[in-house]
Amino acid sequence: MTSLTVFVQREQSRLLSDLSDWLRIPSISTQPEHAGDCRRAAAWIGGRLERLGCRVETIETDGHPVLWAAGPEVPGAPTVLCYGHYDVQPPDPVDEWLSPAFEPTVRDGMLFARGTADDKGQVFCVVAALEALKATRGKLPVNLRYLIEGEEETGSRGLTDLLLREPERTRADAVLVTDTNMVAPGRPSADVALRGIVHAEIHLRTLKADLHSGLYGGAAPNAIETLLHLLEKLKGEDGRIGIPGFYDRVKRPSAQELKAWRALPIKEKGFKEEAGAKGLVGERKFSFLERIWSRPTLEVHGIVGGYTGAGSKTVIPAEATAKISLRLVADQRGKEAGAQLVKAVKRLAPKYADVQVRVFSSVDPAQTPLDSRPFELMDAAFREIWGKGIAPIRSGGSIPIVPLLQQRGAPVVMAGIGLPDDRLHAPNEKLTLDQLWKGIVLFGRWFELLGDRSQ
Ligand code: BES
Ligand code: MN
Ligand code: MN
Repeated sequence: MTSLTVFVQREQSRLLSDLSDWLRIPSISTQPEHAGDCRRAAAWIGGRLERLGCRVETIETDGHPVLWAAGPEVPGAPTVLCYGHYDVQPPDPVDEWLSPAFEPTVRDGMLFARGTADDKGQVFCVVAALEALKATRGKLPVNLRYLIEGEEETGSRGLTDLLLREPERTRADAVLVTDTNMVAPGRPSADVALRGIVHAEIHLRTLKADLHSGLYGGAAPNAIETLLHLLEKLKGEDGRIGIPGFYDRVKRPSAQELKAWRALPIKEKGFKEEAGAKGLVGERKFSFLERIWSRPTLEVHGIVGGYTGAGSKTVIPAEATAKISLRLVADQRGKEAGAQLVKAVKRLAPKYADVQVRVFSSVDPAQTPLDSRPFELMDAAFREIWGKGIAPIRSGGSIPIVPLLQQRGAPVVMAGIGLPDDRLHAPNEKLTLDQLWKGIVLFGRWFELLGDRSQ
């Protein structure tokens, strides 16, 4: 057993109680009333890094602060930048939680709370790795930098501005992003691509005011129905997106990559079960993995309009709104896709409707290399701890800052220790404790390999 493993085993209960303290802070970045909690969550992790000997800065943004920390200088050793986020998604629907979202609870070897897997638990892991290295070897093997933001779940605007203003913050020999998951229990993996995302809202008006549905129904335009017809044109039942030019830049994965996916331990049946769906939808020509990893899509998140109160009301609604997003893949561009969407909606909406499209934010898709030294060493570290090397996978999710980190030149490794059933953004989010303990050892070991093998 390595000394890192011994450290983690010995300190388990204290580490668990510390992480739970952090998880109790409801740092929901999208809700203004939680701004103070976001600040407290930043201060919590900042305090911990400071006690571990880091130089810590809390950097203000227009939104929630960015937490920056630099470990003790290790002259001649490589520099590793660790990225993660302290903000979380809202806990809704709250009634579905078996234990409250912000009261961390252990059941069956899993820690349940909002933010356990996405992403406080994983950030905690890389910070605990520093702690474990300090305790077991005194001198650190690498120069550690931490970049922990509070607006990942809302588009990373503050962090993007900061890194454009102060590019030296990303100067490193390797970047570690711990905000993803392994492909299956016992099967280490790393994401080599993420999808991009464009958030938008479509607002439609068809009448000056609501009308009596008996006196006008059949002839007067109904805003909700008009919106539904429009959405149907934007994405048909066959999963095809009806935005002109949308697919122009879409690249298919190589035959080799597609073949490797077929050997992964996730199959359509298991995916369907995990999703809790009776059947899958979308582009039939493409496997379910292609549909979620390498094909762009459009999702409707919510529709508002008309009467939804108790009983019935015979009304033709004058207005309706839909919140939607596009997911993008290489080589699509967020800004371009957003502009294409706006143009398409204006063109597809019927003349009798006043339509407005607001694009809230756009994130490019990201691709990271497989053949870098840091990636190889992560593979070696996984082999030591899990007994298996990395399966390169993709994820359908987005991490807004990754394209920028990637552009800066240092190889980005996206290797999280979450599992596919962690229920991110959903009720009963959890982190499997064994993953947490192994993850601390994994990242500590990776830092050692990066340091020792660069001598
Ligand atoms: N950590 C997730 C994204 C993720 C999950 C990537 C699993 C890879 C594997 C991240 O916190 C997230 O939820 N991102 C949002 C971004 C958006 C709100 C700008 C997403 O993908 O919806
Ligand atoms: Mn995340
Ligand atoms: Mn998330």
